[in-house]
Parts: sequence; structure tokens; C-alpha cells
Amino acid sequence: MTQPLIAPSILSADFARLGEEVRNVIAAGADWIHFDVMDNHYVPNLTIGPMVCQAIRSHAAKADGTPVPIDVHLMVEPVDAIAEAFAKAGADVISFHPEASAHVDRTLQLIRGLGCKAGLVFNPASPIDVLDWVIDKVDLVLVMSVNPGFGGQSFIDSALRKLEQVRKRIDASGRDIRLEVDGGIKVDNIRAAADAGCDTFVAGSAIFGAKDYRAVIAAMRARLAE
Ligand code: DX5
Ligand code: ZN
Repeated sequence: MTQPLIAPSILSADFARLGEEVRNVIAAGADWIHFDVMDNHYVPNLTIGPMVCQAIRSHAAKADGTPVPIDVHLMVEPVDAIAEAFAKAGADVISFHPEASAHVDRTLQLIRGLGCKAGLVFNPASPIDVLDWVIDKVDLVLVMSVNPGFGGQSFIDSALRKLEQVRKRIDASGRDIRLEVDGGIKVDNIRAAADAGCDTFVAGSAIFGAKDYRAVIAAMRARLAE
């Protein structure tokens, strides 16, 4: 299997100390920083934008200076202008919901043209058929295991079946595409997601809600290694 990646969602971090939280979670073993962008239109919540991405860019690095990818999850409609702003603000991966873009193929090309990896996100009730037509332009598929909008919700089990189906399509394509899951991931269910074919794991409240980030990330890795 590809190297599993843990992507803590800073949605559950202390926003008043965001730079420090980013540094601490990286020191605790985070592989990516997951950055949730909500617009109070596509989803019923309002979070952080490109200026905050730019502000944490320099904090998203390992102790030796190696940059840590910022994984931007856009829950906004429309997508294109804000995707461009995030590319300029230092995002590495930019994912969007196909329902939120009038021209999904064009948006994927736009993101890649800006030098970022492009991802498509599927809500719990969304079909994945669009992959039949654009999988050659996708670097990441994100399966939502909660309805987007808030941290701390419970994992929706049907996401496991969706992960399995996406995994089949990725393998059939023969392309190097990450399969990420987002929502309700904890130490006790991360293994089930991995068994369904997932290789990249977002976790917000499970990590930032704990005192010891390192212990949670280590426990997650231990489950993945079993
Ligand atoms: C929800 C966000 C998630 C959220 C996950 O809309 O996309 O990234 O932060 O939080 P937890 O891990 O607490 O479900
Ligand atoms: Zn997210």
C-alpha cells in the first residue's frame, strides 16, 4: 500500500493560536495540514480563507525546514476564483465538491495549471460517476464520511462502501491518486477506512480535542500498521 498519511484538520484547532497549533501538530507527526474552507452558502458555516492560508504557510514545515503540504478542502460555491486565491496563498492540494462547480473538468484543469494537485470531494449522498470522465485529471479523491460543515460529527458507515468503489476505480485507472477520508475519523475506526482502500486520513476533533496530539497520531499509525 502507498504510505498512509495523517492530515489533521485545523478546523478543531485553537484559532487564536493557529501558527503554534500547526507547528505543534507537525511536531506530533502530522503529514499534511487539512484546511477547511466554508462559505456559509455551499455549507452552513463560515471559516477561514486564503489570507489565513498565507499566514500559516511558513508555520507548515518540519523542524528541518521541509515544507508540509497544505491540503485545502473547499466547501464553497462557486469554486474557480477562490481556488486561484488559494494557489497563490501557498496551498499544495486543492479539492472541491463537483456540485459546486458548473464546469468540473475546467476547474480541475485550472487547479493543476496553477501548479497544485487537484482533488474531487464526494458528499455522503453524492454519486461518484463523474470520475468516469475526469479521473485522468484528478490527483486525489476525498470521500466525506460526514455531511460537510462542522467538525466533531459521527462517522457515516456508507462511506466505507464508497471508499471501496473509489479504490476500484483508482486501481483500474493505474494512476497515482490519493484516496482520502474526512469526517468522524478516530483511533477506533481508522483501520476500517484503510481496509476499504483509504490511504489519507483527515482527523480534526480526534487530534485537536486531545491533550497529547502525538499520542493520538501514534495510536492511529499503530492501528494502520496492524
Ligand atoms: C467537515 C470538515 C472536516 C472536519 C473533520 O466539513 O471537512 O475536515 O474538520 O472533523 P472531525 O474529524 O472532527 O470529524
Ligand atoms: Zn475537510
